[in-house]
Amino acid sequence: MRFDMSQYTLLVNGQAHQLDGEPGDSLLSVLRYELGLTGSKYGCGEGHCGACTVLIDGQATRSCVTRLGAVAGKAITTIEAIGDANRLHPVQQAFLETEAFQCGYCTPGMVMATIGLLKTNAKPSDEDIARLMDRNVCRCGTYPRIVRAVRLAAERMKSMPSAGGRR
Ligand code: FES
Ligand code: FES
Repeated sequence: MRFDMSQYTLLVNGQAHQLDGEPGDSLLSVLRYELGLTGSKYGCGEGHCGACTVLIDGQATRSCVTRLGAVAGKAITTIEAIGDANRLHPVQQAFLETEAFQCGYCTPGMVMATIGLLKTNAKPSDEDIARLMDRNVCRCGTYPRIVRAVRLAAERMKSMPSAGGRR
């Protein structure tokens, strides 16, 4: 039985959603199981692997350890709103061109983390990219290609200051 249910308004991908929940509910669970947005993945569930990364007010954030009560009224962007098959986000395009994935499980989180990085640091150094990789786990070990993808995306987005997401 749940004792602390309240109604929340979540702004996800530009759309407002009213839903019932507890303040301690995981944002990742809400996105996946209440809103059907399954692009964000469950990896560790403890904030360590980055598979669940979304943007909150433009900042890359681990949704598994983000609580519902902390995000009401904030702009949440998931991988579903970043691009589509006909018009990929430059970061998605870079991942595709460099074949920076194998099973693809980590890829949505990697893409969102990269977008978050490039929003605040348009010219990441090798150390900056290494730090990103330290915080995002790829069990298939495609790190060298992911690094190439991040570099390629950064190069292309240099002249596109607002390309860090369409929302
Ligand atoms: S599932 Fe959220 S950081 Fe691993
Ligand atoms: S591509 Fe499989 S976990 Fe990264």
